[in-house]
Amino acid sequence: MSETLKTQVAIIGGGPAGLLLSQILHLAGIDSVIVERQSRDYVMARIRAGVLEQGLVDMLTAAGVGERAAAEGLPHHGVQLAFEGEMHRIDLSGLTGGKQVLVYGQTEVTRDLYAARDAMGGVILDEAADVTPYDIETDTPYLTFTRHGTDYRLDCQFVAACDGYHGVGRRTIPERVQRIFEKVYPFGWLGVLSRTPPVHEEIIYANHSRGFALCSLRNPQLSRYYIQVPVDTPLDAWPDDRFWEELKRRLPAEAAATLVTGPSIEKSIAPLRSFVAEPLSHGRLFLAGDAAHIVPPTGAKGLNLAASDVNYLSEALIGYYRNGDEAALTGYSERALNRIWKAERFSWWMTKLMHQFPEDSEFDRRIQRAEFDFLIGSPAYQAAMAENYVGLPY
Ligand code: FAD
Ligand code: PHB
Repeated sequence: MSETLKTQVAIIGGGPAGLLLSQILHLAGIDSVIVERQSRDYVMARIRAGVLEQGLVDMLTAAGVGERAAAEGLPHHGVQLAFEGEMHRIDLSGLTGGKQVLVYGQTEVTRDLYAARDAMGGVILDEAADVTPYDIETDTPYLTFTRHGTDYRLDCQFVAACDGYHGVGRRTIPERVQRIFEKVYPFGWLGVLSRTPPVHEEIIYANHSRGFALCSLRNPQLSRYYIQVPVDTPLDAWPDDRFWEELKRRLPAEAAATLVTGPSIEKSIAPLRSFVAEPLSHGRLFLAGDAAHIVPPTGAKGLNLAASDVNYLSEALIGYYRNGDEAALTGYSERALNRIWKAERFSWWMTKLMHQFPEDSEFDRRIQRAEFDFLIGSPAYQAAMAENYVGLPY
């Protein structure tokens, strides 16, 4: 069996970037179809980011999907940084003229976006196998894929590849026009989600000689913790007891003493990587989100960067459909990359500041300590950190 479908913008990937783009285009009267490889249940169950910049919150609100985030999200006005047991508060709001971040899980953002797309009759074809873009250098690109035994062709005017790091979109851009910039870190983050009250009301980033640790949360009953682990560590080497014990050893004493432990309800290891593919477009194919770039999660920029790409890309597509403006489409890559590289820099900087690098010499460690001491003693340096943490302007 085979079927041909038609839309204006074919979106590969039903993660946050693809869903948000589809929602914004719909509100502007532009038709799109999302083609997603996984089942919807699988996409909804992925535990990932948890810190939203105001720019993303504003986009959700403008797209009519910000209500639950506003009601249930937790505004955070500061973060805690610890170095060998000493805690210091970075006053995000005080240093940025009142800005804040919102703790609200990516899982919830995804749920809200699916609900909105469903309510508005959005087409999301999940469990689509072998999605392949064709003719992206022409005005009549299309996708093919197979779904539940049927072969599909989706004709479109533009392809938005929002299909994450392992997606097909980036690989469709010919190697001769693409440049890859990459840095792989020699460790990963082991993350645990547990139904326990968070150890602290603010997020704690801890540098310890045994390795980095992070205490985060989703709500007053749900905690998210991470520890730095060697990149080749198998997950089954980390039963819950070992995880909690290691986390406690890396936390400041006052936090370790009050940490409530419990069974993990999710546990996974994520490798750390910095990655950018340039440019973000070729012909009529546009990359957005993790499809084009990865940041290490220190600084919580991944999801937020996907949102700022969608902001620029949706503006460009709306400009094209309203006024035939090609310039914004041509300029999308450069505009998005300008912000991407700043977030790459910040995420790399925070990763360098807070982790133990196995290759570091004693000199490197002293420099790291000096940088931390300078940060906690310098309101100017703290202001620069806070400005980045709450999110640079779009
Ligand atoms: P994704 O969320 O990856 O969505 C892409 C979608 O495309 C997926 O649904 C995928 O199934 C689909 N897809 C892939 N290939 C195809 C294909 N060939 N055909 C059709 N569909 C396809 N960020 C933080 O800030 N904090 C964190 O703690 C954090 N933890 C993370 C943990 C992991 C394991 C990962 C992978 C990422 C994490 N991130 C974190 C980053 C953050 O979650 C991402 O930046 C964010 O999900 C990017 O959204 P996206 O829509 O661009 O990509
Ligand atoms: C999270 O809550 O998952 C989280 C918080 C802050 C980060 C990364 C992840 O920097």
